[in-house]
Amino acid sequence: MNILLIGSGGREHAIATKIAESERCDNLYIAPGNAGTASCGTNVEIKVDDFPAIAKLVKNRDIRMVVVGPEAPLVAGIADYFAKDPILKDIMMIGPSAQGAQLEGSKDFAKQFMRRHNIPTADYRTFTADTLNDGLEYLATLKAPYVLKADGLAAGKGVLILDNLEEARQELKQMLVDSKFGAASSSVVIEEYLSGIELSVFVLTDGKHYKILPSAKDYKRIGEGDTGLNTGGMGSISPVPFADKAFMHKVEHRIVMPTIKGLQREQISYKGFIFLGLMAVTNADGERDPYVIEYNVRMGDPETESVFPRIKTDVVSLFEATAKGVLNLMPLDVDERTAACVMLTAHGYPESYKKGDVISGIDKVSDVKVFHAGTKTNDKGQLVTNGGRVLCVTSLCNSLPEALLKSIQAAETIQWKGRYYRHDIGQDLLRLSVENS
Ligand code: AMP
Ligand code: GLY
Repeated sequence: MNILLIGSGGREHAIATKIAESERCDNLYIAPGNAGTASCGTNVEIKVDDFPAIAKLVKNRDIRMVVVGPEAPLVAGIADYFAKDPILKDIMMIGPSAQGAQLEGSKDFAKQFMRRHNIPTADYRTFTADTLNDGLEYLATLKAPYVLKADGLAAGKGVLILDNLEEARQELKQMLVDSKFGAASSSVVIEEYLSGIELSVFVLTDGKHYKILPSAKDYKRIGEGDTGLNTGGMGSISPVPFADKAFMHKVEHRIVMPTIKGLQREQISYKGFIFLGLMAVTNADGERDPYVIEYNVRMGDPETESVFPRIKTDVVSLFEATAKGVLNLMPLDVDERTAACVMLTAHGYPESYKKGDVISGIDKVSDVKVFHAGTKTNDKGQLVTNGGRVLCVTSLCNSLPEALLKSIQAAETIQWKGRYYRHDIGQDLLRLSVENS
């Protein structure tokens, strides 16, 4: 069958790689894609939120399945757009309805959903400009650090964690009254701070049944030792060593099952990925308990670059079973090895950076997967940088230290002017394993 994948990052290159490997895929189109996805199928210059152009492409190219990478088209209602069209309604869509996408599109919606379904998460209250004074009073009842979250999508920047009460009060005012994050901060969730270790767990669901995909850990800060500015993600490891059977049992029973049941009970149409951003909090007995920090309605980036290479089951068959509501009939085979992904970024990222630098050395690396994030082929046919996060190197090995070494060696071989990467991806997990042994 012909398949369309929407998006243009490293996540999409990792998904495209798996789709292209499938015997079930005849032609893969990627809108808009990047220089990496061009080796898996045909890139089509269409924006991810241009639904009429996407619909036209689907009709003209006899596309039977659409897989949505990023959240923006989901929150904007791409699944509903297809569902309403007499011809497009039968196209298999991997991605939830706009209502389901509110789990990511509105922090308040997500928190209310979790409260309704007894899903463990930090205590919270939501405020608007009209209830600013209540919000200021509520802040004074909490202990530092203070967590303020713009309700809507704010390009990953809408969460503030502040040590000082006065600063938190000022920020709350700026968010609610001065529209610090535009309309996204017209409502603000203030929540209790959870202390622990973060990890990501991914679920594929047909709205009724689910498969829990491999866990992963993402490294968000630009600097080594988790310092400096937040980024889209500088690397990832899968699986997370401490997410053992006992911990994953809690995740499944306390979070995944009530989430799927909650969606069903509320008649929210959801066929796609659920990304659980979790905090593992150590309880009084010294065991780790999972709490939901956030839901996302898509795969993570760069988690996908370490999770997808570990999926052995044919992903097109998994997606088809998802669309048809029979995911329970599919097995999920996972590679037991560890994947380590190291992101290579442009000089200056996540602040301003240059594009167009010529990339060399990709042809010299072997036994690793190089996923493209921000790349393109220039007029001279050269591969050049075209974003802040440029390339991501993933290796799969029997142990985490081996996988890290292989990825770092490959990262070192790939060059352009000012390319940067974090050498310490996964080191915290290695230290933790030593402490626990
Ligand atoms: P979010 O966009 O909700 O995932 O928040 C961004 C980041 O802020 C998370 O990845 C966490 O590192 C941190 N964070 C969010 N909520 C909390 C919380 N309640 N306690 C501690 N850290 C948090
Ligand atoms: N890696 C975090 C995200 O995709 O949101």
